[in-house]
This record gives sequence, C-alpha cells and structure tokens, in this order.
Amino acid sequence: MPQDAAQTIYLADYAPFTHTVEQVHLTFRLAPGATRVLSRISFAPTPNAPAGPFFLHGEQLNLISARIDGAPVTPEVTATGLTCPVPDGPFTWEAEVEISPETNTALEGLYMSRSMYCTQCEAEGFRKITFYPDRPDVMAPFTVRIESDLPVLLSNGNPTGNGDGWAEWTDPWPKPAYLFALVAGELVNHADRFTTASGRDVELNIWVRPGDEHKCAFGMDALKRSMQWDEEVYGREYDLDVFNIVAVDDFNMGAMENKGLNIFNSSAVLASPETSTDANFERIEGIIAHEYFHNWTGNRITCRDWFQLCLKEGLTVFRDQQFTGDMRSHAVKRIEDVLMLRGRQFREDNGPLAHPVRPESFVEINNFYTATVYEKGAEVIGMLKRLVGDDAYYQALDLYFDRHDGQACTIEDWLKVFEDTTGRDLSQFKRWYAQAGTPRVRVDEAWSPGPKGGTYTLHLRQTTPPTPGQPDKEPLVIPVAVGLLSPNGDEVVPTQVLEFTEVSQAFKFEGLASRPVPSILRGFSAPVILERQSSADERAFLLAHDTDPFNKWEAGRGLAKDVLSRTIAGKPAPTASFVDALHAMAADTRLDPAFRALALRLPAQDDMAQTLFDSGLTPDPLQIYSALRHLRETIAAQMGGLLADLYDEMAVPGPYRPDAEDSGRRSLRQAALSYLTLIDGGARARTQFAGADNMTEQLGALSCLLDIGAADTALADFRTQWQNDRLVMDKWFGLQVSLAPPDTAAVRANALTEDRDFDWKNPNRFRAVIGGLAMNPAGFHDPSGASYALVTDWLIRLDPVNPQTTARMSTAFETWKRYDADRQGMIRENLERLAATPGLSRDTTEMVSRILAA
Ligand code: ARG
Ligand code: ZN
Repeated sequence: MPQDAAQTIYLADYAPFTHTVEQVHLTFRLAPGATRVLSRISFAPTPNAPAGPFFLHGEQLNLISARIDGAPVTPEVTATGLTCPVPDGPFTWEAEVEISPETNTALEGLYMSRSMYCTQCEAEGFRKITFYPDRPDVMAPFTVRIESDLPVLLSNGNPTGNGDGWAEWTDPWPKPAYLFALVAGELVNHADRFTTASGRDVELNIWVRPGDEHKCAFGMDALKRSMQWDEEVYGREYDLDVFNIVAVDDFNMGAMENKGLNIFNSSAVLASPETSTDANFERIEGIIAHEYFHNWTGNRITCRDWFQLCLKEGLTVFRDQQFTGDMRSHAVKRIEDVLMLRGRQFREDNGPLAHPVRPESFVEINNFYTATVYEKGAEVIGMLKRLVGDDAYYQALDLYFDRHDGQACTIEDWLKVFEDTTGRDLSQFKRWYAQAGTPRVRVDEAWSPGPKGGTYTLHLRQTTPPTPGQPDKEPLVIPVAVGLLSPNGDEVVPTQVLEFTEVSQAFKFEGLASRPVPSILRGFSAPVILERQSSADERAFLLAHDTDPFNKWEAGRGLAKDVLSRTIAGKPAPTASFVDALHAMAADTRLDPAFRALALRLPAQDDMAQTLFDSGLTPDPLQIYSALRHLRETIAAQMGGLLADLYDEMAVPGPYRPDAEDSGRRSLRQAALSYLTLIDGGARARTQFAGADNMTEQLGALSCLLDIGAADTALADFRTQWQNDRLVMDKWFGLQVSLAPPDTAAVRANALTEDRDFDWKNPNRFRAVIGGLAMNPAGFHDPSGASYALVTDWLIRLDPVNPQTTARMSTAFETWKRYDADRQGMIRENLERLAATPGLSRDTTEMVSRILAA
C-alpha cells in the first residue's frame, strides 16, 4: 500500500468533535511565497462527546510554533493534522504556520490568481490555511486581521477597523471553517445599497480587476432582486452590514457562498451585452441567486457532515430554480432544468458513478459535488412540495428556519419539520435520499365503457435498476401528476397528483364520456423514466392540445426521439407527422417564442445515446450524429419558408436587453438560423456575424458557420476582436472543439492546446478545450480513439497541478459501458493508463477506480 493510502469515510461513523470552538482570531501576514497565519482559538470540551485525542486537521502547513494557554507545546504533526495533549477544561490554542499561496495551483485553500490572493475552503480547504477542526459541525465566530500593502483587503462579516497596511473583519455569526474567505488585491468595486424589510441598510459591492467594471451592473441587479425575492417568498432577510462579491479568473467551480464574501468564477458574474450571451446572463442571474440564498440554506443552517451536502445544495438549487421561474418563465425554466437533469444526472445515475442523493461513503468529498446531489437533490425537494402542497411546504420551511437557525443539521432534521407540520410519515419518502438509480415507471392502461360513463384505469409499475453497491431496490413514493384529455382536445380531468407508493398500483378515473388521452408526469413531477407505448398520432395530439406546457414539449421530444431511433434502426420513421407537428408548433403565435425555440431544438447526441442504451441497444455516436444531421436537413428543407419568416420577424429592435422576452425572441431566431444555414450556404449567418452588436447574435452566427464548416474567416475575425477578453476567448476555444466535425475534433483540440493562448492551468480554458472535446460526442468517440488518448494525456498532465478539476473531467468516460467492444477496449486502456500514473491524486484515483469497476 502507498504510504497515504486513501481512506474511505462512512456516514455511519459520524461522531461529534471532542471540543467546541468559542472564538477564532486569525492574523494573515500576506506574502506570495511565505504567508504567515497566526491563529488564536478558544476551545472547550464538548459535553458528553466521545473520548479521544485532541486532533486538528492541517495539510501542507509549516508549523512555526504552537502554544496552549500561552505555554509553548510540541504537537505531533502528520500529513493530515496534529495531535496534542490538552487541559481537561477550556483552553486557548495559538499557532503560527507558514504557507505558500503562489505555488498553490490546486486552487484550494489560500491561493493566487495572478496578483490577487483568494481562498476556496469548501469542502476541506481550510486545513491548508491553518490547523483547525475542519468539519462543518464545528461553528464559531471569527475575527480576521489581514496585513498587506495591497489596497483591498476583505474577509467575512463586517469591517471593524483598518489602517496603513491592515484591515480587520468581524463575523458575528458562528460558521464552519468551510465558509471562511479572504481576498486581497488591486480591485475596484461596483457599489450599491439595499435596505432589508426590517430596515437594515446593507452596502453591496462587486469587486473586480480594473477593466472589468463595466461588467458588473447585471450581477448587481440580480443580487438585489435575489435579496428581495428571499424576503418575499421565504421571509429571509440579510443579516450583515455589507455583502461582498469578488470575481476571480482562476476558480475550480462556479461560485462559493462564503459568509458575507461570495467568491465567483469570473464567468459566473461578469456580464456585458457585447461579451455575454443570453444564456450567460440567465446562468449568472441563477448563480448569484444561488449563492445569496445559501446565506440561509447553508450558512445560517449548515450541514452536520459532508454526507448531508444535499441538505444545503438540493434545497438551494430548488430555491434558485423557483427564483428563475419567477423572474422569467416557469414553463421554459422547467424544460431547461429537465434537459439538464436528463443530460447530466440521468447519465450519472445510470452509469458506474451512480450514488444516492445522500451518499453513505466517500474517499474525496470534492468528488460528490455532483448532478445527483445538486439536481436530483432539488427534484426531491420539488416532489416533497408537490406531495404536501404549497402552504404546508412554506409552513415546514418556517419551522426549519425557526428550529434550526445556527445549527449543523441532517436530512433527518429536514424531514422531521415536514412530519411535524403535516403529520405525514415520510419514512418511505426518505428512500429518495438513500437509493441511487433512476426509477422506471411502466404505464399500462385499460378502458371499460359503462352506462353512467366509462372507467379509465392507469396501471403503474415501478422498478429501480441495480447501481454500484445497491443490487436491490425498494419502492419509492412517486408523485405522478396526471391530467386527461378528451379525444377532441378538451381537458376532462385537470391535473391531479397520484401518490404512487407500491411496486404496482392501479388508479381509476370514472364517469368519462369517452376513452381519454392521458397526459402523465405533468411538469415532470418526479425524476423517473416513463415507459409507455405511445403512437406518433397520440404524441402529435398531445403536442397540439396538452394544457401542460412541459408535457406539450415532451410530446414533441418523444416524437423526435422516435424518428431518430427508427431512422438509426433502419425502420420506417414517422418523420412526416413530426415535421407537421413541429411546423404547427413553430407557427403558433400564442406560444412564447422561448418555448417554440426549445421545441425546435432536437435531442442532443448524448441524450439520444442514453435513450438508445436504455432501450437495450448499443448506441453508435456516428450514426446518431448522421441521423440528427439528416433530420435537421429534412426540417430545413420542409419548413424553410416558415423558418425564414421567423428569422425576420424575431429580430429584436432597439438596444440589447437580457430579459426573458427579448432573449426568447433571439432564441427562436437562432433556432431558425441554425436550420436555415443548412440550406442558404451560411449567407444569413455571415451577415448576422458581421453586423452583430451583442455576443448572443455574434456567437449564434459563429456556431452556425462552424456547423457547416465555413467559419475560418469568422474565427479569425472573432479572435482579432476579442483576444484581450479572457471570457470571450474561452468561447472561441470551446466552440470550435465542441462543434468540430467528428473526424477532425481531436486534431482541432490538439492544435488548440498548442495555441499561444492555451493557458492549461486556468480551469476555464482547460475545460473549454478538453471539456469541449468531451461535449462533442461523435468527435470524442471517433473510432480512431484519438480523442480518448488526447483527453487522457491531458488529465495525466493536469492531475498533479489541479486534482479537483482533473477528477471532475474524468467523468468524460463515465458512459463507456454504453458503447461497443472496440470503443470499450480503447477507453479501458486509457483509464488503466491514467490509473497507473505514479502519484495520481486521491481525487482522480477514486473517480477512475469507480468508473473502471463498472
Ligand atoms: N457550495 C458551492 C456552491 O454550490 C460549491 C462549492 C464546491 N466546492 C468544491 N470544492 N467542490 O455554490
Ligand atoms: Zn450551492
């Protein structure tokens, strides 16, 4: 065994820490290669805590000195922390350590992004800053003194003093160490104010590098709308005098909710019409809201241990989804969320990395910030709300905030507030947190006419396939929202929620004049795969008549998938009825343009691969690519007139605005353009590219040109125009890889890794190129195996520099068992090569071994 053999941590082993922390004082003397961190921490024994040695986490720290109650001590230091004999009662711990932010390329702990200092502590980064009980159930108030000549010095809480070369911050709210943050640099602020419902005047700032000031206005507006929304909808107010957001160029994730000092990947906060697309604006609005909402769901009430991660993440994602729905369109947001759930979470849940929403063990917690914990975690909250109803949901949330403010909680605490307010027994519902895998719901139906009207019966059967470590599954509580339509298209039974709890269960609807057409799983009321035989005619009928916007969209999607699957299988396909239905929908001016744009978008390649695999087939990425191409050409040829009209009608007059209405029109126009480009040789796209005054239209045109292999000039012009804007250049790098023709994708990606602007240590740039290749399924799975090898080479290179991003990107291979023996063989070879890399990080080792174990 290697010396630091990876240890598995189990939920079942939870035990409280031996001590509580009453107060933390930190002093930072910043220097790039040798920062000194002085800590003074008051500890007291935890009443009734299990006996054990006093242990503080600490990694990569150079301990200069330590004292207990003022007397020097010599702790025993290992690679993961220290132990030390301590007094029986309360005592004060002091330590001085030295760390090196400038060589910290893992971007965890205190590190540098160019000349700026910043931190990322969630989940376990604080132990790279000083010795501490780095676990979320240890909460304490912090004061922080920063000493540096840099002009802007920030930490959590309120500013409580500053002078020449120093600043002091006090955070009165007890918090776990993962919410600690520090920023120091030459930064400028975009300032504003917000007055809370009870009259607290809050100073708001977005801090950026000079030159980015003009990209802050939208984020600030989104922040103020988030603050107001949380007051109105959840009754939650902000609780400090300042709220700071900082944009950082080098960041592993999207953003981080540190108390009073949110730190953002610059791609998740900076926006301007010229440099950001509509999709960027919507994402930024959602992430600003998400991090802000964490102040209550995450910070004031935090997690007892990291197994409970979904307690804060699932709930906060659910809240940011509600917010975006309120700001924009609930129907459109729901479809977008389901696309993302199916694209990322179903893929995870049906492969070797499947794990429960609340995992029971892990090696590296950073590997569990997943679509399952976040997105399926949010679906579980949505189901709970659907089952208990809106009023009961908000009553339970009020009790949650009352009862648990200031605590570190569990899923049991969360469910208990629902049980206490509604009287429901949620023990079966709790299985959603424990069982991995996407449930299948099979639907059979029966109709029996009668003198007083007929009876329609829905027979539902549920199964959840085995997942790693979980061969057998028990039935779940599945809320199935159903409505019934009469054959002439009227809704005869409005939406009701069936509580489906048995393996097999029948639901009857009586007194119906004629056999109805069912609309099942309205609003995607549960994260399951619905298995039901449905004809093309019935799908076309629902597409035309369903009153539920999600299922209306879903009917079109089902038709598209039928056409594609049958084409791939060489069978006759209902292409004509699909194109007719699509035409009717696209031309229906009663429908929101954003909705029509979504309906015009065909299933993604990876979604089709998963769909084929689910139906027992071995997907061929090239066949999927060609079938999609062929269908797009058919649509373009048959709907060209309508699409050309839409392209002209949906032009948005006046200055650019990122709101739902204008962005909806632009998205419909873009959908039209993407088809038209297949028949006009790129004429419209070239004109649009040359005349665009916003990034949505410029990038939209560029992707159409890339799609027909006619983008060389546009790519060169784009680069000339944007070479000094890193975020725009990420798009330039990413798009040409993700849209490269299958047989040239690896070559293109490889060439870009040799580009003078390929800064591979920057996660955004690395993801653009290497992640872009993985997001080009036909190119990634090119039969030569060139892409597999290229991605693996780069993962091997990045791992020692940035394990977290490497491990995350290894999920490119998580679907390998879907494919044929040749592809599986090549992937296995590459995964084994990666696994055999000497010194491979714990993060990547865990991921690769789970993927290989499939
Ligand atoms: N809590 C952050 C968010 O949801 C994500 C932090 C992820 N950090 C990590 N090391 N995995 O917004
Ligand atoms: Zn979060």
